[in-house]
Amino acid sequence: MDDYPKTEVREGLVSVIVPDLTKYVVGNRPEPAHAPVFYNPRMEVNRSLSIAIINGYTSYLNKSGITVCEPLSGTGVRAVRYAKELNDVSRVVANDISEKAYELIRLNVSKNGLSDVVTAYKDDANNILLRVAREGGCDIVDIDPFGSPQPFIENSLRAVKDGGLLCVTATDVGVLAGKYPLKCVRRYGSLPQKFPFRFEVGIRILIYLIARYALSMDYGIQPLVSFLDGHYYRVCALVIKDRAYAVETLRNLGYAYYRPRTLARGFIQGFPLPDTVRLRLAGPLWIGRLWDPEFITNYLVRNARDYFSDRAKELIELIRDESLAPNVPYALTTEVSRDLGRELPVKDVINIIGKLGYQVSRSHFHIKGFRTDADLARVKDVIMEISK
Ligand SMILES: C[S@@+](CC[C@H](N)C(=O)[O-])C[C@H]1O[C@@H](n2cnc3c(N)ncnc32)[C@H](O)[C@@H]1O
Repeated sequence: MDDYPKTEVREGLVSVIVPDLTKYVVGNRPEPAHAPVFYNPRMEVNRSLSIAIINGYTSYLNKSGITVCEPLSGTGVRAVRYAKELNDVSRVVANDISEKAYELIRLNVSKNGLSDVVTAYKDDANNILLRVAREGGCDIVDIDPFGSPQPFIENSLRAVKDGGLLCVTATDVGVLAGKYPLKCVRRYGSLPQKFPFRFEVGIRILIYLIARYALSMDYGIQPLVSFLDGHYYRVCALVIKDRAYAVETLRNLGYAYYRPRTLARGFIQGFPLPDTVRLRLAGPLWIGRLWDPEFITNYLVRNARDYFSDRAKELIELIRDESLAPNVPYALTTEVSRDLGRELPVKDVINIIGKLGYQVSRSHFHIKGFRTDADLARVKDVIMEISK
């Protein structure tokens, strides 16, 4: 086997061999992308949540003997955790284009005694997805690339079974959230905006991309869970291979608007854009729900495990609270304390809105974020009034 510094780490219920990141430091921080095979310990949160989501999905839809395809596996840590920690899993397809990654996947599979469940390949991800599609598809397709998942979405939709779950990571949050608008237009076919809720605009553009590819094949999608965790977005969506469902999905496409003067915000249904609109818009994007609240409350939360990191457990709690909130873009405490001269803490703003009788919850998208059906101009006035 190729020689480079390696180490053994424990994550979830498995032990795996990964590159020794202390030997790949940029500035004074380990840089996973500089190692011969990619391994980012921070992505434990992504992997643990995915285990809770897939286990939740299995019981939500009464599935058994589920099959998983992970065509961008790196060290294989995710594929190995899936084989070990998913309930009732029958087969995991792991793959990476890199020879060094392929060797590590095989090593980690055999080290954990999972050779009867995980099959490893060394191929281009799109070839593997097409091969899986030809062989009848998988229940779960998990795309976890560097940067944008765009090159893999179309074939992932082919590889996932009808009623299956497509899980997608995107680490190009800057592009999706409006830092490089023209790059977003080129890559995603959608215009982002630097609205106060730009991180929500970003994830809705990502879901829009999945929906667009699905619609072109007469499939529909429905997100079960969507979230932002630092440098990446994650979306897990049901794929329904049915034309009537595709028509339903089309109704969930539109645009987001924001009026800085009144703080008004919301969505406009319509794709392509209705020609009567004269607002500054972001989109096209997904305007439907980001979560299935029943799934989150009754299935995701129950599948959190004690051995997950504190951050993974905290994120599940935040998502649970937010999934019950109204489907309007989140707002920031800075917006409603604009005329106050000082910023109110988010818990005080939530308290005030709750007392006014509106629905309100924290938003995990931003440390100062909250989601409410209240008129924000009124909230701003009430804050001024009680602070006199
Ligand atoms: C972000 S890493 C995957 C991390 C892994 N899923 C995890 O949870 O640790 C992306 C991987 O995709 C591989 N890759 C990049 N382009 C590829 C392609 N076209 N086909 C297959 N693998 C590819 C890279 O070698 C890299 O190992």
